[in-house]
Amino acid sequence: ARTRTELAAALSSAPRARTGRPHGTAVVMTMGALHAGHLSLVRHARTLAERVVVTIFVNPLQFAPSEDLSRYPRDLEGDLDLLSGPGLLGADDVVFAPGPQDVYPDGDPVVRVAAGAIGDVLEGESRPGHLDGVLTVVLKLLHLTRPDVALFGRKDAQQLAAVRRMVRDLDVPVEVVGVPLVRDDDGVALSSRNAYLSADDRRRALGLPAALRAGSEVALTGAAPGAVLDAARTALAAAGVDDVDYVALVHPDDFTPAGDEHVGEALLLLAARVGSTRLIDNTTVTLG
Ligand code: PAJ
Repeated sequence: ARTRTELAAALSSAPRARTGRPHGTAVVMTMGALHAGHLSLVRHARTLAERVVVTIFVNPLQFAPSEDLSRYPRDLEGDLDLLSGPGLLGADDVVFAPGPQDVYPDGDPVVRVAAGAIGDVLEGESRPGHLDGVLTVVLKLLHLTRPDVALFGRKDAQQLAAVRRMVRDLDVPVEVVGVPLVRDDDGVALSSRNAYLSADDRRRALGLPAALRAGSEVALTGAAPGAVLDAARTALAAAGVDDVDYVALVHPDDFTPAGDEHVGEALLLLAARVGSTRLIDNTTVTLG
């Protein structure tokens, strides 16, 4: 489906296959340039719902003027090929790939979702307004696709936490499911933006998962948050990743800093520029 009318038509008929899965419709929202990380969300969605709706839309609202909106990788034909692979989309499923004029028929929306405090830290500090733009399009796409369940990757842990908070605060009638982060064989988190990396960038990008491993190992010894962060920063520097946006340890739900008093699971998060490409990565560590 390319337009909201075509989407409504595709959703109006009940799925033919009755599989006994727990939900009616699951949505997986993407910006395209699909990779195995996205496909893992689709595979997971398959197990949860009779019908899977995949949306492919590069949302201008979540890009700052200085960011990569115009050069963001786009390959609808390739994406559709991947989605028709084994164990992925079947006859009852829907791909919604609208253009900006279908999603924003009146131009930039006047009324928007504000992410609040979680939108001001880490990703929000590096990319002001980014999470507001994400939540606004996520809410619109939830209204257009009307799913019972929506799946988001833990790769974008702050986005997942912000979506969960929006759903609670605004009583959005959907169940949010987080799906584990998928890595390439060398440990680098899969991302559509990895396509921008030169061979040398790619070698330095190994510093991100290496930093997460270094931090996790120090956390396992019962060290304080400061020591975990130091270990991660040292590993980034050793790998030649010198343009670091943040290295942080936070509470997984509200993204407030995990201090010395924190006991239990925390998220260790990184963002850094490698060449001209901004990469993020994260892992769960146990403190205390
Ligand atoms: P995009 O970056 O295309 O990611 C779409 C979904 O795939 C997100 O839920 C993201 O967390 C997940 N994903 C990406 N790489 C992953 C990986 N390596 N492992 C697991 N999951 C991964 O996130 C967005 O698009 C947009 O902000 C969107 C939610 C579609 C709103 O525009």
